[in-house]
Amino acid sequence: MRERFADSDSFSRIRPKGASRRGRRADRFDDSQPEYDYFASTGFDLGADAEPEEQQYAAPVTDGPATGDRWSTWDQSTPTEKGPEPRPDWVVTELAAVDTELGIVKTGKEADVFLLERAVPGTSRRTLMAAKRYRDAQHRMFHRDSGYLEGRQHKESRVTRAMAKRTAFGKEAIAGQWAAAEFAALCRLWSAGVAVPYPVQITGTEILMEFVGDENGTAAPRLAQLRAEEADIDDLWAQLGRSLALLAYDGYAHGDLSAYNILVHRGRLVIIDVPQIVDVVANPRGLSFLERDVRNVGAWFVSRGLPPESVEALVDSLATDARLRR
Ligand SMILES: Nc1ncnc2c1ncn2[C@@H]1O[C@H](COP(=O)(O)OP(=O)(O)O)[C@@H](O)[C@H]1O
Ligand SMILES: [Mg+2]
Repeated sequence: MRERFADSDSFSRIRPKGASRRGRRADRFDDSQPEYDYFASTGFDLGADAEPEEQQYAAPVTDGPATGDRWSTWDQSTPTEKGPEPRPDWVVTELAAVDTELGIVKTGKEADVFLLERAVPGTSRRTLMAAKRYRDAQHRMFHRDSGYLEGRQHKESRVTRAMAKRTAFGKEAIAGQWAAAEFAALCRLWSAGVAVPYPVQITGTEILMEFVGDENGTAAPRLAQLRAEEADIDDLWAQLGRSLALLAYDGYAHGDLSAYNILVHRGRLVIIDVPQIVDVVANPRGLSFLERDVRNVGAWFVSRGLPPESVEALVDSLATDARLRR
C-alpha cells in the first residue's frame, strides 16, 4: 500500500518562492491586502529555505506520487464526507490522481483558501479546486465562535472537555467543527439549487470545493471588487434574489452576507462562506438575520444605482418565502 502524507502540515514545506512563513502570517488578518498573485511568482520552493524545526516535523514521504504534492485524498473521505449527487463530471475520483497545490487564493480571518489541482498523470483528466483550510483558534480571529458552538451537542465528552480546555486537540476540534458546518451547509444549499460552489469533499479541517474562476487559476473577483463596467447590476440583483429565495424557502439565511462573500465569475454570481447559516424558523432572531443580510448586500447594490425600494421589497418577499410572514 502506498503511504500518504500524515497530515496537511506536509504542505508547510511547499510554498511559493519568496513567501516566507513569517511574511505570510503578517498578511493574514488584513483583508485590504491585494490578492497574492501566484502566477507572478517564479515557481515553488520545496522547502530549501524551511526553518530546521519545520523539516524535522515534516512527515516522511516514502511512497509519494512521482509528480504533485500528495496522492488524491478522495478515498480518505467517507460517503457522507463527499459532495451530493448528482456529482458533476469534472470531479476527479480516480485513485491514481495526484493533488498539486498551485498557490494561495486568499488568506482570510478564519481560514486560508488555496488553489489545488487534482489530475491523473499521463491523461487529460484535470480539475481545479479551492481548498479552504480552517485554522486552529490560535491563528485566527474568529468572530463567529462566541455563542455559536456552545449550544451544539458533542457526543464525545472528551471532545467537549478538550474544547473547553483549549488543548491543541480541542483547537483542532473547533476548526474541524467549522469546516464540517460549512461542508454540510454547502451540500444542503447546492442541493436546494442555491448558487454556491459544489462541495467536493471534506477531510478534517480542509474543504475541497469547486474553484470559482478561470481555467488558468485566476479566481473570480468578489462583488465588492467588481469594476463598474463588469457589473450588470440588475442582472446580478436578480440572480442574488433567486438564490436567496431558494435559501429562504429552505428555511435559512446566510448569516454573514456581504459584497465580500459573493463572487462574480463572468457574470455568474456565486455565494460563498456559509458555515454560519441561520435556521430562521428555529432562531428567535431569524427575521433580523435575514433583514441584516439583505440590507448589507443591498447597500452595495444601492450604491451602484439599484432603487432602495428594491431592497425592502426583497426583504419582504424572503420573509414570506421563509414563512415568517403571511
Ligand atoms: N470556491 C472558491 N473559488 C474561488 N475563490 C474562493 C472560493 N472560496 C473562497 N474564495 C476566496 O477566498 C476568500 C476567503 O474565503 P471565505 O470562504 O470568504 O473565507 P473567510 O471565512 O476567510 O472569509 C474569498 O473572499 C474568495 O476571494
Ligand atoms: Mg468571507
